[in-house]
Amino acid sequence: MSTYIGAVDSGTTSSRFLIFDEAGNLITFHQVQHTMHYPQPGWVEMDPEDILSAVTECIDKAIKRFEMMGRLVSDIKAIGITNQRETALVWDRKTGHSLHSAIVWSDTRTLDIVKEVNQDKDRAQLIRDVCGLPVTTYFSAVKFKWLLENVPAVQTASNSGDAMFGTIDSWLMYNLTGGAANGGVHVTDVTNASRTLLMNLKSLQWDPALLSIFNIPLSVLPKIVSSAEVYGLVKSGPLVDIPVAGCLGDQQAALVGQKCFEKGDAKNTFGTGAFMLFNTGDEPLVSQNGMVTTVGYQFGQNKPAYALEGSIASAGSAIKWTRDNLGLISSSEEIGPLAASVEDSGGVYFVTAFSGLFAPYWRDDARACIVGITHFTTRNHIARATLESMCYQSRAILDCMKDDASVPLKSLKVDGGVSNSDEAMQILSDVLGIQVVRPQMRETTALGAAIAAGYAIGRWTEYADLDNVNAQGVTSFEPKIDTLNRDNKYKDWAKAIERSYGWAQV
Ligand code: G3P
Repeated sequence: MSTYIGAVDSGTTSSRFLIFDEAGNLITFHQVQHTMHYPQPGWVEMDPEDILSAVTECIDKAIKRFEMMGRLVSDIKAIGITNQRETALVWDRKTGHSLHSAIVWSDTRTLDIVKEVNQDKDRAQLIRDVCGLPVTTYFSAVKFKWLLENVPAVQTASNSGDAMFGTIDSWLMYNLTGGAANGGVHVTDVTNASRTLLMNLKSLQWDPALLSIFNIPLSVLPKIVSSAEVYGLVKSGPLVDIPVAGCLGDQQAALVGQKCFEKGDAKNTFGTGAFMLFNTGDEPLVSQNGMVTTVGYQFGQNKPAYALEGSIASAGSAIKWTRDNLGLISSSEEIGPLAASVEDSGGVYFVTAFSGLFAPYWRDDARACIVGITHFTTRNHIARATLESMCYQSRAILDCMKDDASVPLKSLKVDGGVSNSDEAMQILSDVLGIQVVRPQMRETTALGAAIAAGYAIGRWTEYADLDNVNAQGVTSFEPKIDTLNRDNKYKDWAKAIERSYGWAQV
């Protein structure tokens, strides 16, 4: 008898439901795109009910396809959830309906709250020491605070004990396990909670001092649970009675899906942005170099694994810009061959700071720039400089992580859309000077949620049980340029970065 595990993967741009077999093979999936709303400059919202109906549609259609393949839903033994992180919402306990649009992770309306909290340097340091995060508009607590202070319906529900706050994992979990009508559970997993600014990294519980700084009542928050345990059963639809047993934020899920279970293992997911996570073992490590400390995963009552995270704001979005705004390429896949048709970027550097620079630079005032152009420069050089940009930013992050963790990195695992390009991954290996390893099946985020769910129901009990999962067809890229060349180019990149500073008023 076959065993299958399902995964709800609800990201920023789309939701999906995927079904894996025990070897991590993707059997089938369905995907629905999301609509984003931009009601004011800097505001980014999504309709929570839309996200829910996208997930429901994905489940329905993927299951239909699964059955048409002659397979049985009763062989799906558990499902996991993985989600865009930090996006914050509130719903009503009595009706189960959301009380406001979800405020998306990239929304910057909370700049004033952030400035106010950061005015007191000691307070900002205390927050960072307790939860591992800097106070920026990125994380959830400032969004929760904004909702409480600005939406009367949220205030009323909070006062009457009817407000349920959460991130997208909580919202989906609540609805899948029954919602208002059928006793849906109000929980969030440690990885999502570690992105709120409210969780104590050591106790893995909401921290009273942090709750008081952001003025968030404990009663509105979900219970923090591990990333792998049975949270409840699906209450309706084709998956009825199947346990929901895995839950991780999407970048942490990719860490699990890439099987980065050892201290020093690292992965980089190249999507719209890029997110590099470095497993630092079972003790949280506070970065001295601008990395964020986060929970990597916690399976049941085992000790959690912590990670350092470095985020790059523009990766795939920079390629999209060369396609849509410059007309340099007509499809994203063209950029790799174009970049590889020249030996190097001909001295051109493209700092893709379209909306500032994240780790390790953290410059809101930076804007994109292309430097080093001569009459010799062709579109091939610009294409190459575009790919090199995300590689140099990855190197900057990796250097910091190595310094923080004092663990050498032997290889970097990659996934996400840009990793489909052999040329981009070869350039990455050249720039980093280490091996870059890419699995054949690159749905590692969803696979991570499925692995957590499979662990919770006892399908896998040891990491060694996963050795054969998604192990076929791995491609490795080895560095092909010498150290001197690599380091000289990186020095020039550092000069280009300086040129991007100070173009935006913040
Ligand atoms: O922290 C934000 C991240 O979780 C978003 O990921 O893939 O949905 O853009 P993605």
